[in-house]
Parts: sequence; C-alpha cells; structure tokens
Amino acid sequence: MRVVETISLDAEAGCVTLIDQTRLPGIFRLVRCRTVDRLITAIARLEIRGAPALGVAGAYGVVLATRTIREKEHSRFMRALRSEAGRIMNARPTAVNLSWGVEQVMRAVEDAHSIHEARTKALESAQGVAAADARACHTLGKAGATLLGEHCTVLTHCNAGALACSEWGTALGVVRSAVEGGKEVEVIACETRPLLQGARLTAWELQRDGIPVTVIPDSSAAFLMKRGDIDLVIVGADRITPDAVFNKIGTYMHAITARHHDVPFYVAAPLSTFDPGRSAREVIVEERGREEVASCGRAAMVPEGVGVKNYAFDITPHDLVTAFVTDIGILTPPIDWKMIEAGRKDQKR
Ligand code: MRU
Repeated sequence: MRVVETISLDAEAGCVTLIDQTRLPGIFRLVRCRTVDRLITAIARLEIRGAPALGVAGAYGVVLATRTIREKEHSRFMRALRSEAGRIMNARPTAVNLSWGVEQVMRAVEDAHSIHEARTKALESAQGVAAADARACHTLGKAGATLLGEHCTVLTHCNAGALACSEWGTALGVVRSAVEGGKEVEVIACETRPLLQGARLTAWELQRDGIPVTVIPDSSAAFLMKRGDIDLVIVGADRITPDAVFNKIGTYMHAITARHHDVPFYVAAPLSTFDPGRSAREVIVEERGREEVASCGRAAMVPEGVGVKNYAFDITPHDLVTAFVTDIGILTPPIDWKMIEAGRKDQKR
C-alpha cells in the first residue's frame, strides 16, 4: 500500500504541512500552515478533515502556537497558549478528536516550568498523538478484517481512510488490512453529498492502492442492498457518545437501510473518538454554508431565495450498529464504557 502523508509537522521550520483535500482528486497540492490562524482556516475549509486527522491537526496546532506566541514571561505565555488552544478546538464542533488532540498536548505542557520546556513537551506529546493514531488504525484494521469474508463487497460513506487519519484509516483501514491479509474486497463508495468525500477522496485513495472501488450516488444504497449486492457496511465516526454515533450526514440513513435488509452495519473508530462524558443532545451538529448545496462551481443548483439546510453530520443510535471496531477489539452494543475508560487510561501511560 502506498503511504499517504495526510499531515506532517516540521517543528524546526514551525510548519504544519497537509494535503489540500478540497482539490483532490484533480489537483494534489500541499498547504503549509505557519500560523494558528492558517491552520484554523484549513480545518474550517476542510483542507484537512476526518476525525482522527483533526485530532492530529489540533495537537500540531498547539505546537505551532508554542512557536508563534511572542510572550517572554512563562505565565503570560501559558495564558496566551490556553487561548490559542481554545480557538483551535472551536474550529469545528462535532468531531471530538479535535478537542481531544488539543487537550492531550495542553495536559502535557501544563506542568512545564519554562517556555522552553513547554515547547519541548508540546512537540513530544503531539508526535505521540500522531503515532498513537497510526497504531490505533492498524490495530482496529486487523481486528475488523476478521469480520470480512474471503470475497466481499463493502459499502462505505464519506471518507474514513488514510486521508482522514494520520495513515491507514478506520473504515478503510479495515478494508486495507483485509486486502493485506489476502481477502478480495470491493468497495462501494457513496459519493457523500454535498462535498463528495466518498467520490473524491475514498475513490482516490483506494484506486491509488489498487483496491477495486465503485462510486454510487448516496440514494442508490437501498437499491443495492435490496438486490443483495452489499455484504456489509463500514463507516467511521466523528464522535461516539454513550447514546449515539455522530458521523457524516447520510450515515443514519444507511444504518436504517442496512437494518431493514439484514446487512451488518459496523462503525470503525479509535478510542479517541469515544466521548463518555456527553450525551447526544449536548453535542453541536455542525451546519455548513448554503453554497455547498446550492451551487456547483458557478452554476446555481437551487433557485435564489429558496432555503437550504446543510447539516454536516447525523446521529445514529447504537441499536442500529452491529458492532464497533476499535483499537481494543470488536465491541457489540451495549458498549461497556468501563472498558473504554480503561483502554483510554492505558493509552495515556
Ligand atoms: O466533514 P468531514 O469530511 O470532516 O467528515 C468526516 C466524516 O464524517 C468521517 O466519516 C469521520 O470523521 C470518520 S474519519 C476516520
């Protein structure tokens, strides 16, 4: 498999480099973020996107802040750093990994005694967040691969691949691990209106790895399931609360459809995506701009004056999930949250 370097940090140069995911598949362009403002813009524009990748971006963002804050006195520096951390966390509201990544690094710097020490600890911690994400994806990928038959067709929604993580992917990590283990897997990628992460990104990265992939309009999924063309559905997640799964808008529709047709529906996510402390109604579902739905390039797709609703995510109850594929194994609902908490504590050690 060819490595996709979704996001990287050059601490010496004070620069976070990421693949501009708004330009794929047509243009492969790298964006260099030297300021926290530029990184926040990249997150808001979806140049970098996908929950685990946002976790890494958040962690690297704190490192950038430690290099760009001008304060020379330690307590003032820390005050400024906390404020920058808050701005990064709020760049997008739904994926819990973003605030999780920022918090991991902030926790590491809080007990630093000097600015120099804070910079060093931030860097070590952020590199740890990226490495842990890569490990988690490989671990859950191997666990999830056992759920796939020797020859099978997997439907996925949005992009939960290497582009959405530091590498390998969650839902697509399962596919990659299965292929690596010798299974023949074909992927049906839902295009994922309105920003087409499935058609543009999932198709791009699977084609690059030589994994067969076919794109369908989101609205074809029920028809294909009815015909028996889909063996299982695997999606990623932006946040898993004790009562629900937040993922790209359209996920809930696929979960209901899969249940109706007796097709297993799996959610693949690392422990960093689990949010034990919040219920679904406390989470903000991001609403994005009208233009994402109402126009295609310069052409209008909706008459002027007609309203548009553009929620970026939806909420799927756990009882529609056959199992969660995680870095501590395959968990069947109802989830044992004590295991999740214990797993998260172990990973901090
Ligand atoms: O708006 P996006 O592109 O950031 O949404 C991404 C998704 O919904 C993914 O499915 C999710 O983050 C899981 S990525 C491993």
